[in-house]
Formats: sequence, structure tokens, C-alpha cells
Amino acid sequence: MSIEQRIENAAALIKACQRMVVLTGAGVSKESGVPTFRDALDGLWAQYDPQRLATPQAFAANPKLVWDFYEYRREIMRPAQPNPAHRALAALETRFPGLPIITQNVDDLHEQAGSTNIIRLHGKINANRCSKNCQGSPTPIDVTTLEWDHAHDMPHCPYCGHPVRPDVVWFGEMLPLDQLDEAKSLSARADVMLVVGTSGVVVPASDLPHITKRAGGKVIEINPSESGITPVADIWLQGAAGDLLPRVVAALDTAQDA
Ligand code: OAD
Repeated sequence: MSIEQRIENAAALIKACQRMVVLTGAGVSKESGVPTFRDALDGLWAQYDPQRLATPQAFAANPKLVWDFYEYRREIMRPAQPNPAHRALAALETRFPGLPIITQNVDDLHEQAGSTNIIRLHGKINANRCSKNCQGSPTPIDVTTLEWDHAHDMPHCPYCGHPVRPDVVWFGEMLPLDQLDEAKSLSARADVMLVVGTSGVVVPASDLPHITKRAGGKVIEINPSESGITPVADIWLQGAAGDLLPRVVAALDTAQDA
């Protein structure tokens, strides 16, 4: 079946659905220049395995190394702009007001593109918090109000003096339960889940499409490569999100009423 036909079929499913939910991973931001999580990081950080840096153990052992790793990732992300995939998802909100976007990403490109209902499973890289949440969970810290020797030190909580950390979920850490509960309930109620740019290997996010399927919903996947989701996808649109998502949204206006 041609990709055009698959796009038509996906558009017909979306057009006929009542409750839609989107699940995104790093692939949706790839065309904005943000490396996916499993891309080899270039330069200084190529010698480090991100999965070994993004852990509470790594932070406890060497908080400045982990802090500098996230400063490096924030530096990479700073110039990133929403790409046509983010903008196509924002455009879908006109057809589905309040369209929920469950994201594993820690960038804010969905918000920048105009999406208004983001469920964040892994936190937000541009936010920071006290590593001990000393004023309650979370204890947000605005590091722009703090002073420290950037070359030799890192910011510390102004309340308790413990190191400040990025407000993201690290390997082995619990996800924010309110976000996870909402993501699971949205997945169970959706009659269509659009999955964009995730390898589908990290639980519990990778369970969400299975929840939709078990509840009788359909799964559409956009990814240039096979992923852990592809086996349960009703339609796999093989290709880049920045190319395919705008074509799916455009096809909605011409899709046959299912
Ligand atoms: P991955 O890096 O695991 O997977 C990125 C996916 O995007 C792959 O399946 C690629 O094939 C696909 N991809 C690449 N370019 C694409 C494009 N232009 N359009 C669409 N898809 C494209 O990233 P995630 O699946 O998001 O967790 O990783 C999930 C989690 O694993 C991350 O949130 C992170 C990591 O551990 C934490 O940080 C806790």
C-alpha cells in the first residue's frame, strides 16, 4: 500500500474519531535539531553515555558533572524552533480543542508551536528544583536569581544549600504520578492514539499505546524506523514527522467521512 493511501486511511480514522490523544517522543523534535535520546552525542559528551548521566546515582556521585551535562543539553536546545511536526499537532487542536499531547520530551517545542494541553511524563529541562525538594515536592528554583562560579561550581538551593537539579525524570526515578495517571486514563478513553517519534522502549510511556488498543482504540504511528510500538500499530506511516504530519492534517480536509 502506498504512503499516500496510508495517509488517507490515517486521516479517515482521525476524522471519524471522537476522542484523540497524541504520544510524542524525541523523534518529533529531531527536525528541530534536538538530538534524540539514543543519538550519539557529539563533542565532549560523546565519551559519556547519557543513560549513565541522567541518574540519581550519577548526580549524587558528581552533581557538577550532571549539572554541566544538562547545561550542555540546554545549550543545544536553546536555538531549537518548532518544526512542521509540532505545528501540525498544534493545528490539529482546531479540530480537537484541548487535544492532549502526552510527551516524553523535556523540551518546550510543543508549547512554542501553540499546543495547549501537554502532559509531561519526564519533566521539563528548562526548569530546576532543589534536589531535596526542601520546601515541598517540587521546590522550584529560579537559578537566574542565584550567583555561583560557573567554571568550578554549580547552583545550590537558597533555602537548604543542597545542589539544584534539572526538573526532569532520571532513569530509575518515579514519574510524576498525576501526569502518569492522566496519561493512562486518556489512553484508555481514546479511540485514536497518534504516536510520533518514539522508540517505544521506555516504560511506562511505551505501555500507553497498548492501553488504547486493549480498550478498543486504534493506534497510528509515525516513525522512519520500526519501533516497539509498530507491532501494535493499526497504521504505520514510515517517515519523518516533519514531512508526514502536515500531510495527514492536510488530508483531513479531503478525507472521506468514514
Ligand atoms: P529515542 O531516541 O529512544 O527514539 C527516538 C525515535 O524517534 C526513534 O524511534 C527514531 O526512529 C524516531 N525518529 C527519528 N527521527 C525522526 C523523525 N524525523 N520523525 C519521527 N520519528 C523520528 O527517544 P524516545 O523514544 O523519546 O527518558 O525515548 C524515550 C525516553 O528514553 C526519553 O524520554 C528518555 C530516554 O530514556 C528519560 O529521559 C527518562
